[in-house]
This record gives sequence, structure tokens and C-alpha cells, in this order.
Amino acid sequence: FKASDREVWDEVQFLKTMPSRQLNDHKGDHGRGLVIGGSSEMPGAFAMTLQAALRTGAGLITGATSEKVRSAIAGQNLEATYQILPEVNGALTNKKSIDLDAYDAVAIGIGMGRDPETELLVKTILHQAECPIIIDGDGLFHIKDDLSALQGKQEPVIITPHPGEMAMLMGLSVKELMHKPFYYSRNFAMEHGVYVILKGTHTIISSPEGRQAVNTTGNPGLAKGGSGDVLTGMVLAMIMQGQSIFEGLCNGCYLHGKSADLAVSTNHTVHDLLATDVITGIPKAFKSLL
Ligand code: APR
Ligand code: MG
Repeated sequence: FKASDREVWDEVQFLKTMPSRQLNDHKGDHGRGLVIGGSSEMPGAFAMTLQAALRTGAGLITGATSEKVRSAIAGQNLEATYQILPEVNGALTNKKSIDLDAYDAVAIGIGMGRDPETELLVKTILHQAECPIIIDGDGLFHIKDDLSALQGKQEPVIITPHPGEMAMLMGLSVKELMHKPFYYSRNFAMEHGVYVILKGTHTIISSPEGRQAVNTTGNPGLAKGGSGDVLTGMVLAMIMQGQSIFEGLCNGCYLHGKSADLAVSTNHTVHDLLATDVITGIPKAFKSLL
């Protein structure tokens, strides 16, 4: 591959690939998404993923989390539904099976914590899911010692690491990784047969075939806890809307950065921008594009 094979994902690409809505669309046409995660320490991360997915156009979103997290966040996510997962000593477990049948895509790992009890839940879902699955945050921590779990799935597997998480998965230092981020992320995608969103100032999206794009939106206001959780929800919604998986991932990243860019060019600055402002800005970002 040459550097010229990299696509630059800009407004033209977004407009060319973003599907339009039809008059007689049904909520099922825009996808039923399941988000698995949350913990007493990180209920907000989980709530933001649900809300971001809803604002980005998912037809139905279900959160699978503990009863504690559900009761803490349900009032802010009125459109979401829930599946309740059992906890052992505050960690999510797979002691009760999750209903995966009704969903078009799954995202797992958001704010779920790194307790060893939770590892089996992640691996079970990864094994059982028969739809595209996104693994983010602590979900990546749980699979780091057994990357073969990523392979051999019929349906797309998508990972969304920041450089620290990508370096952890590859056994590299962040410095080594960021010396050749295109090279390492493409290698990982092709070797394991997964889609990779390597997040950062210039987010890089790679497909299992080696297709690669770099996102053109976003600003340092996003360098805050929670903006990655918002991205996961947006990407989840995008991959259920009829475009190809690769294009859906690129469009999710593009819209996320666009929302942040519009926010800091109007009523926010890179200093005060919060992840929740990025969710609030999604309607404006859509309006500016579509
Ligand atoms: N310019 C543009 N985009 C940026 C910039 C920047 N300078 N900095 C960050 N971003 C974007 C990234 O591209 C990504 O979409 O913000 C998002 C950050 O995602 P994550 O790093 O996953 O952040 P998040 O999970 O919300 O919070 C950080 O990660 O290491 C863990 O435990 C740590 O809780 C912390 C969490
Ligand atoms: Mg993150």
C-alpha cells in the first residue's frame, strides 16, 4: 500500500455516502442497537453512548447494564429501553444471558470496568453476536490477551481504540505506534480481520481488506473524558443505516468531529467543550450537512 491509497474523509465523502431517509420509513429501518456496559463508577459514559446513538438516528436503542446504572440514567435517556445484567461485587457478569436476537448491531465495553468477572461477559457476547459488534474502552482491555477471539466471525467486528488502547493490543509503546499509525492500524485490521478506528487528532479508519481513510473534522475540545463514548454511540447508529460498514464508521467519525467544530465556532471554545455538548450539537451538524 502507498500513502496515496489513503482516503481523506471530508464533506464530499460524507454527502456521497450518507443514505437519505424515505417518507415511509419505519423505526426498524434505522436499526435496533444494543449497548452493553456501564458501572457504578462510569454511569455517565454509558448514558452518553445511548444518547449519542439516538441523536445520530438509531431506530431503537437498548442499554444492557446493572440495575443501579439503569436507575441512575433512565431519567436522562427516555427513549432507550434496558436489559438488566447481574453484578458480582459491583462487576457486570454473564450470569444471566443477554438477549442478542433482536439487534442489528452491538457495542460493548463502554464504562464497564476492568474487573476479571466482566471478561467472560465480553468474550461470551463476542462469541455469540450474529450482527456487527463494536468493542470499545474496557472491552478492549478484556480481550487484549486473547486476540484470536476477534477472528473468524461472519459479521463485522469493529474496534475503537485510542492510541493507548491500540498500543496495549499490539504490545507496542504509544511512541512506536504513533510513529507509524497508518501502518500499524492497517496491519492489525488485516491480520485480525477487523475494522479499526484509531482515534486521535487525525482519526484513522481501516478495513479488514486494508482500505484506509483519515477523518478531517474534530478539535482539541474533544480531548476530554467522554468524547470517545459519544463517538461509539454515533458510530453504532451509523453502521445500522444502510451504508457500508466502512463508510458508516467514517461518517460517524466525521459527524462527531463536525459537531465539535461547529460548537467551538459558535457558542463554545476548546476549553469549555464537554462530551455532552457534542451530543447536543449533532442536530446542527446534520443540518449543516444535509
Ligand atoms: N483533536 C481532535 N479530536 C480529538 C482530539 C484532538 N486533539 N483529542 C481527542 N479527540 C477525539 C478522538 O479522536 C476520539 O474520538 O476525542 C475522542 C476521545 O476518545 P477516547 O480517547 O476514547 O476518550 P474517552 O473514552 O471519552 O475518555 C478517555 O480513556 O484511557 C481511558 O480511562 C481513560 O477514561 C479515560 C478515557
Ligand atoms: Mg474511550
